[in-house]
Amino acid sequence: MYDTEMEGRVDREIAAFLEEEYAAKGDQLYGWYRHRFLAANNKYLSATIGLAHYDKAIARFVIENCPFARRFVEVGAGLAQESMLLAALGMSTCAIETNLTNFDMMKRLLERLSQRLAPDLPKRMTPINDFFPTRAADYVDSHTIVAFPTLSWTISAAEEEAIFASLRMAGGVILSVYDFFRHRAEEGEREALIAQIRARGFDAPVVVHAWDGWVAGFRHDRIVFMRRSAS
Ligand SMILES: C[S@@+](CC[C@H](N)C(=O)[O-])C[C@H]1O[C@@H](n2cnc3c(N)ncnc32)[C@H](O)[C@@H]1O
Repeated sequence: MYDTEMEGRVDREIAAFLEEEYAAKGDQLYGWYRHRFLAANNKYLSATIGLAHYDKAIARFVIENCPFARRFVEVGAGLAQESMLLAALGMSTCAIETNLTNFDMMKRLLERLSQRLAPDLPKRMTPINDFFPTRAADYVDSHTIVAFPTLSWTISAAEEEAIFASLRMAGGVILSVYDFFRHRAEEGEREALIAQIRARGFDAPVVVHAWDGWVAGFRHDRIVFMRRSAS
């Protein structure tokens, strides 16, 4: 059963961590965390949050609906909230982050959660400093879910092709259809994205979590799961 009590503890510890990071770094803290998670900078929040609403929805979906999954790989993880939460709930996770400043924060957050919540967390949660999919074959296989939540980044056509190609190794994919490596404002672009993934051998998408407009400062999005098709 999904452990909402552990979810709450992870949420509060990450929120406390972000408050301390902000006190130490001010505007040097990565903008994504400064503007979305901190009550001081997000008018929709009455208190700082450690987990976004979609982090919680994805974790619950994976625990309740993906018995095939032995590993969860979070691409563009930043602090790796999703991987920390799922590891605290018992899952093996890998968090892939290219930016060294964010990667350093991720490692310090892992240490903190290990000390305060679950001493065995580092056995299940692995931070990986990589530009996905450079070393994807090391950590993606048919029992792996690869997740791309809210990831805007400018990539070349060749890099995009390499990302799609790497999905063939995975058992399932979770992605933001609005922010898969660039913002896809038009429904046609989102449909084309889904078609490109289906062409790599995946079933039609199942909605994990979707919202309209702005929710707590997060732009509308649709997070979907796509399972590798039975061959
Ligand atoms: C918006 S931030 C963190 C988002 C986080 N997943 C969340 O939802 O809170 C996106 C991160 O993706 C990282 N990133 C972008 N492209 C990447 C790639 N190909 N491999 C690894 N990290 C990547 C950036 O360095 C940045 O830290």
